[in-house]
This record gives sequence, C-alpha cells and structure tokens, in this order.
Amino acid sequence: MRHDLLSRLKQETAACHSRLEHTLDLMRDGLQRDEYIALLERFYGYVAPWEDAVGACLPASLHAFFDERRKTSLLAADLVALSGDPAAAESIMIANARSLPPIDDLGSAFGSLYVMEGSTLGGRFIAPHVAEQLGLAPGVGNAYFDGYGARTGSMWNAFRETAVSVVPETGYDAAVSAAIGTFDSLQAWLCVDAPDARAISGAAA
Ligand code: HEM
Repeated sequence: MRHDLLSRLKQETAACHSRLEHTLDLMRDGLQRDEYIALLERFYGYVAPWEDAVGACLPASLHAFFDERRKTSLLAADLVALSGDPAAAESIMIANARSLPPIDDLGSAFGSLYVMEGSTLGGRFIAPHVAEQLGLAPGVGNAYFDGYGARTGSMWNAFRETAVSVVPETGYDAAVSAAIGTFDSLQAWLCVDAPDARAISGAAA
C-alpha cells in the first residue's frame, strides 16, 4: 500500500524519537546559549558527513531533490552568527563512517532521510523557542531548526511523495532499519563525547 512506508517509519521509530526528544530536552525553559552552541556543533559533526554519504548513494535524478535539503550550511551560518567567528565551523569534530548508519541503497538512504526531514517538523516548535530563550534576532542563530521556514509542510509532503515513488517495497525493511540506525547513531553522537571522530579543517559539505 502506498503509505505503508511512511506509517511503518513513523510507528517503528516512535520510541527512538521520544528518547531523543527527551534527552535533548530543547523545549525547556532556561536553555543556555553555551549548551545550544555545543549542540549545534555536534549536529554539524553528524550532518556534514551524513550528507556526503547520502549524496554519494543517490542517483543523479535525485541530486536536485537532495541538494535543496542539505542543511550543513545552515548549521555553519548559525555557528558563525552565534560566535561572531567567521571560522566557527572549521575545526569541529566530524563523525566518521563508523559513527553513521550504513547507507548503501535507496531504501536505507530514504529511511535515513526520513529522520532528518522529519526533524524539520519538530523544528517548527524548537526554532521559535530557542529564539525566545536566547533572545535571537529572527533567523540569526536558529536557521538550522527553522530549516524550510514557511515551506516546511510542502517540503515534508514532497519528501513523502518522493520516498513512496522511488523506494521499492522490497526496500522497506532496509528503510526502517536505517531510520532506527540513524536515530540511534545520532543519539549516541549528540549525547556523549564521541572519541570515534576526526577533526577536519574546512567545511565538510
Ligand atoms: C527536542 C527535540 C524535538 C521535539 C520537541 C520534536 C517534536 C516533534 C513534533 C511535535 C513532531 C510532529 C510534528 C507534526 O506532525 O507536525 C515531530 C515529528 C518528527 N520528528 Fe521530532 N522533535 C524533536 C527532535 C527531533 C530530532 C532531533 C529528530 C531527528 C533528527 C526528529 C525527528 C522527527 C521525525 C522523523 C518526525 C516525523 C514523524 C512522522 O510524522 O512520521 N525530531 N517532532
């Protein structure tokens, strides 16, 4: 059935989502600027190599679809805006392949993409909360969580349409495994100091 993929992804990652949401606890009062910056740095360290891995796995026909969903530059812009340092994103610890879930076919790529695209839905609540807590000017320092702005709903619908049209039913199990693997690895990366990382110089996107 057409929507089986999306409903399976939602149901089978629901526990992962609540665990991550509770661990990050971004909607609390008293959020500190330093902890928010540290979290953005960790996101950057995951999202930059993850985008490389997904981009490398997608066929040319999906490059435009994926390129408009890349968010590494938004994370870099937030870090520069919050620190005032134009080189703020250049020495961040980047996850290596062992810290990312295996992404090697359309099913796993779209399962993993589901997690990152879905995070823009929560971002609609997180972005204004962060701005209010930290006294940010509109779009300055919360661009990552504000991802697609007013286009969030239409980008999410377009993602869903594309996912069901390109992932064959035989790829659904791989998609669900990759989505769970993405939540788990993101949780591990964001929430502990990961020794399994390499320092890079320059943006990795
Ligand atoms: C404190 C952090 C978070 C909060 C408060 C939050 C909240 C939400 C909310 C309210 C929705 C439903 C929005 C809607 O249906 O319009 C949602 C959906 C979603 N979020 Fe989060 N979220 C958080 C973090 C994350 C993170 C870090 C990720 C992954 C990187 C994530 C992945 C998803 C996914 C995949 C969905 C789509 C579920 C579906 O409908 O299939 N969320 N989130």
